Amino acid sequence: MPNKVNVAILSADYANLAAAASRIDKSKADAIHFDLMDGALVPNISFGAGVIKALRPYSTKEFDAHLMLQTPLAFIPAVCEAGADAITVHAEAYGFDEALEEIAKSGKKVGLALNPETGLDVVVPLLHKLSRVLIMGVTPGFGSQVFIPEIAEKIYDLADLIGSLPVEIAVDGGMNVDTARAARESGAKIICAGSFITKHPNWEERIAMLKDA
Ligand code: DX5
Ligand code: ZN
Repeated sequence: MPNKVNVAILSADYANLAAAASRIDKSKADAIHFDLMDGALVPNISFGAGVIKALRPYSTKEFDAHLMLQTPLAFIPAVCEAGADAITVHAEAYGFDEALEEIAKSGKKVGLALNPETGLDVVVPLLHKLSRVLIMGVTPGFGSQVFIPEIAEKIYDLADLIGSLPVEIAVDGGMNVDTARAARESGAKIICAGSFITKHPNWEERIAMLKDA
């Protein structure tokens, strides 16, 4: 089975996001990954639900919303209404457990993200409620960072905890052919990648490289 590849538009040209969404739509990628940042949970501000809504007409791919927001619960309705199919909140955020309930109630795929320094204990009692766990390969906030090698072992341990439950492991940050392969060999199914794809002229080739990593 090839890896699933979710293309992050965080490092794409913000003056041409509709073109980026169309380009991903025509590719073999599995989803468009939207990095919402509030300048509080992470030291950067990106964009909000309005960008998801504006791009929805340009692609039928899964819209994968990664909420790097200190208080995610307040934003779930807008992200749902904007057209997200999967919504991931951080275990480091306030009220993340209530946010997970809200996502589940809305019928969207439920994701929980863990920063590199956050242990797996938090995820164990929640596994039966989740569609995916998003393991951060970098400290979130910026694209183009280097994958922390020890995260491969964390993915391996998580895969062990998940066992036969229907929970996919996604990995986000610092993905290239080598790190995507390490993640896949450790048990990850979804590779979220930004700059490796969008900073290169041939996105299709880069997506194929990650699918086959
Ligand atoms: C990091 C974001 C990632 C990021 C990935 O804060 O959550 O989704 O955009 O970018 P690259 O692939 O450039 O590390
Ligand atoms: Zn992300």
